[in-house]
Amino acid sequence: QAKRRADYQPPAFSIATVDLHITLHPTETKVVSTLAIARNGAHNAPLVLDGDGLELNAIAVNGEALSEEFYTLGDNTLSINSELDTFELVITTTIAPEHNKALEGLYLSGGAYCTQCEAEGFRRITYFMDRPDVLSVYTVTVVADKSIPMLLANGNPVDKGDIGASSHFVKWHDPHPKPCYLFALVAGDFDLLTDSYTTSSGKEVALELYVDKGKKSQGVFALESLKRAMKWDEDVFGLEYDLDIYMIVAVDFFNMGAMENKGLNVFNSKFVLADQESATDDDFFNVESVIAHEYFHNWTGNRVTCRDWFQLSLKEGLTVFRDQQFSADMTSALSNRIKHVRVMREHQFAEDASAMSHPIRPEEVIEMNNFYTVTVYDKGAEVIRMFHTLLGPDGFRRGMDEYFKRHDGQAVTCDDFISAMQSATDLDLTQFARWYSQSGTPVISVEHKIQNDDNDDVIHTFTLSQHTPATSDQSEKESLYIPVNIEIIDDEGNTYTDNESMIQNGMVILNAPSMSFTVNAENASLTPVVLGNFSAPAKVENPLDTASLLTIFKYAKDPFNRWDAMQTLYDRCIKQIEDAPGCAISNDIWEGIKQAIAQEQSNLELLGECLVTPSFETLCQSRSNINVSALSKARKAFCDQFAQALEQELLQVFNNIDAASYSYTQDAVNQRRCKNVVLAHLARLPQHEGAIVAQFDAADNMTDTLGALRSAQHCNSATFDTLMARFEATWNHDPLVLDKWFALHATQNRDDIFATITMLCEHPQFAMSNPNRVRSVIGSFAFYNSERFHALDGSGYKFVTDYLLKLDAVNPQVAARIVTPLTQWQGFANEHQVLMKQQLGRLLNHKGLSKDVFEKVSKSLAYD
Ligand code: ARG
Ligand code: ZN
Repeated sequence: QAKRRADYQPPAFSIATVDLHITLHPTETKVVSTLAIARNGAHNAPLVLDGDGLELNAIAVNGEALSEEFYTLGDNTLSINSELDTFELVITTTIAPEHNKALEGLYLSGGAYCTQCEAEGFRRITYFMDRPDVLSVYTVTVVADKSIPMLLANGNPVDKGDIGASSHFVKWHDPHPKPCYLFALVAGDFDLLTDSYTTSSGKEVALELYVDKGKKSQGVFALESLKRAMKWDEDVFGLEYDLDIYMIVAVDFFNMGAMENKGLNVFNSKFVLADQESATDDDFFNVESVIAHEYFHNWTGNRVTCRDWFQLSLKEGLTVFRDQQFSADMTSALSNRIKHVRVMREHQFAEDASAMSHPIRPEEVIEMNNFYTVTVYDKGAEVIRMFHTLLGPDGFRRGMDEYFKRHDGQAVTCDDFISAMQSATDLDLTQFARWYSQSGTPVISVEHKIQNDDNDDVIHTFTLSQHTPATSDQSEKESLYIPVNIEIIDDEGNTYTDNESMIQNGMVILNAPSMSFTVNAENASLTPVVLGNFSAPAKVENPLDTASLLTIFKYAKDPFNRWDAMQTLYDRCIKQIEDAPGCAISNDIWEGIKQAIAQEQSNLELLGECLVTPSFETLCQSRSNINVSALSKARKAFCDQFAQALEQELLQVFNNIDAASYSYTQDAVNQRRCKNVVLAHLARLPQHEGAIVAQFDAADNMTDTLGALRSAQHCNSATFDTLMARFEATWNHDPLVLDKWFALHATQNRDDIFATITMLCEHPQFAMSNPNRVRSVIGSFAFYNSERFHALDGSGYKFVTDYLLKLDAVNPQVAARIVTPLTQWQGFANEHQVLMKQQLGRLLNHKGLSKDVFEKVSKSLAYD
């Protein structure tokens, strides 16, 4: 069942043009596809087309109906036996969008037709060579009843008119050859926001944003974000848009975030709609970042696409890196970096440690949709970031220019990208390329030895070593080429250089199993500050004492390191409580934290982030054999002590932030962020419950409303329940806002949690067929309600499994996402593992299990 990267074969035929004539109907949509086929080279293999769930009505070659002896209809293929080297093939099929609940191919989302073809959804629309290296020019005619006024497809509209009294059509032409995964069609009745953008070379582009009726004002921010992204790509990469029109459609039913279809992006409405009342600062951030991401794909993905799906990171890692750089420029570099590092530590490291471990360029795939992962996307972006770090911004830009010069209009591989980057640098990138083939999280260990030399000078020897533990998919690991940002400081903040000049521009290249350098310092005590700005996707083992961690916080130049030092300190404290439950954290640690707070009073961005204690998921990555309840209790005990010991300081921070009137600007975001982080700490002290209710009552924006609700999760349950009921009464009409309410309920650590979740699933706004709803209820429970999900009576695992058995029959892609926490049993104590595997076994034995869930569950059970 698995496909391997090594088995790639170039396509046996090419398809220069595709002419689609699609007559929409909920249960009988007619698709007439006219293909210009040409044999590639001399061979006599048949033309094999992919198809899935299609009703075949007719086949014609060069205008003549094809008789049955010349074609074979398989389960998922249609093979045409023709001796001709070039011919016109016309295929007519029928599909039923209304019955399509997997949301792949053509489906109905709340009354509107839309498509999702990446990775392999086009085969659910018509028979085709459904692979990214077949590029064609598309002409698409969409026909529908006049009750559906807007008919959209890729490219430019070239014709429209009536068909009889009740139907109409619009014809679209996209001049840029593209793979079929970038095909899109949307038809419905929307509110339309229009704007325009003039590119740097003076071309005027019409911008159109389609949203549900009545939601026009919630689309303004997305449209503004789009213009910022268009400008940024011109400024930073010299890349301009290439069609006359750019359309974005927001739909409610969507499996992922959004899709970069050429000239016609389709978005999960969650990443389009935003306004002060209904969207948090995080929502605004995500809208801007996803709008930019899909826009940036126009060059990194569409103009230059992937040869095969094993190369997915070619476009996704690169485009995530580009959207991260954009967001950092639009908002703030530090908070962005912290956000990305949290994703890496909470999710990507966990994936590396699991049975789904894979390199950013996977070797073997059963269901491609399972490989839209944090590894391919986020670790992929970290690898691109290392190119950027090693080559510098100018070198990176030269490499990018060369990449487009060589490959515009082509379907290429990650090796092609590496080779373009190689052309822009004197560094030898051969070893660096291993990041594409080796999976797993490297661990960088730091060793510090102190000796006196003959002159009684103190010589510090620092040794950096790397080691990548074996992963489920690879037992042997080799040394990687790792850029390690490093500072050596003493306890007064002076910086030291090494005697060997291995530190260049604050960076050491660790490209061997280990390497050492020395630093001379008269009587100084030195602290190595390692992996500044998270310069590589690695873990660090640096045995520093509390005093050194606080020194880093105080003096390190790199703000990321300063934040990270506090995280390490908190992690240590929690470990201490795990080892000796009931113990109290010593006063000098609280004093150190108080000083840190005092030092950063005016830097609310860093202060806010430094007051966030590590999540349960992050803590799991530095532990093994985890007993969930013990770790959660230790974390909670630490947070309680934190609130008690720092109450006065926290209150002072809270009271010093005066809420100016609302705006979505970086300063205001930092203020709200810091204030809400502090409020969540204070919520652990009953005397501050009033502040939470007061904030809830006074809030004029969703960030503060939700901040109050999140804090109320720590209050007594009556207060929480009251606020939640009020929230529901206010927002009952708005499903995207209600998702936040669903998620808060689902992550409550309460005895009646299953009754609550059952109640949520019966809520009038809930539907199993809507991925956003399912993610906010079942996904939140499985991913973030760790104590209840991991309950040692097995009830959490069983509940999720029961649900997945039903969901899998409706939407396998979403089911396969939510099964993830169950498959990641490796880090947990044996009692957990036994129960988790029991439920995985139930899934595996289920008749008719999708290959999506099968791939993840079978791998997980086979890993030991
Ligand atoms: N290319 C899209 C993006 O990253 C993701 C679409 C993936 N869809 C899927 N069903 N696997 O912007
Ligand atoms: Zn993408």
